[in-house]
Amino acid sequence: MKTKINRREFLKATATTGSAIVAGGTFFLPSPRFTLVSEAGASALPKPHVDGEKALMRLLKERKSHREYRPGQLPQEVISNLLWAAFGINRPDGRRTAPTARNRQDIDVYICMAEGTYLYDVKAHALKLVVAEDLRALTGTQPFVKEAPINLVYVADLTKMGNVPEDEKSLFAGAHTGFISQNVYLFCASEGLSTVVRALIDRPTLAKSMKLRSDQKIVLAQCVGYPKG
Ligand SMILES: Cc1cc2nc3c(=O)[nH]c(=O)nc-3n(C[C@H](O)[C@H](O)[C@H](O)COP(=O)(O)O)c2cc1C
Repeated sequence: MKTKINRREFLKATATTGSAIVAGGTFFLPSPRFTLVSEAGASALPKPHVDGEKALMRLLKERKSHREYRPGQLPQEVISNLLWAAFGINRPDGRRTAPTARNRQDIDVYICMAEGTYLYDVKAHALKLVVAEDLRALTGTQPFVKEAPINLVYVADLTKMGNVPEDEKSLFAGAHTGFISQNVYLFCASEGLSTVVRALIDRPTLAKSMKLRSDQKIVLAQCVGYPKG
């Protein structure tokens, strides 16, 4: 189903919250390059800006974990770049910014924000609404977690592991998530954003709230937001 909305109405609706719920999907403030059209609840993200300027050595020097976040949503362009850096497609054959054993691409990136939880649809470079609820507080057991405007949740889809031996599945899922998480760390260093990857999660509660299947396993979560102070 396609939903078109008037640009002025959209901007009015988003003036205070940064987003609006339209026909079951959240539409972030649009880039002029994109039309406000939703395909089956998916919201197109702006085209990622892939020509960053900071040198890798400086980003590595600045990479660190932060546990204090200032409230305030990130612009949709930043969210778009963040997700692409995390685990976007960087080659015409569909391969990604992080390596995966046997190219299984088994990790799904979910993004929890105040307005809802979304799956990053990598092929469409869009957000698919999963739950229209603020699940940020459930993405970790530490108090600062709910203050971060974005909590990424890395979920291993075991059905994508194919014939990987059972005892290697969780090793691979952990390694793959580590690469993605480090991409996010470096992206945050380049943008002056705060981030911390986290294992302290009540996984059964979060999995239930995210409506995950039993063959989907939460590996880690990662806060992203503006630094406090
Ligand atoms: C697998 C993994 C799990 C982690 N879990 C948590 C966590 O649950 N909560 C937290 O505050 N930090 C967590 N961290 C962040 C580490 O505490 C942090 O990386 C470490 O203290 C080193 O600090 P740095 O990242 O600034 O170098 C985790 C890091 C990794 C790699």
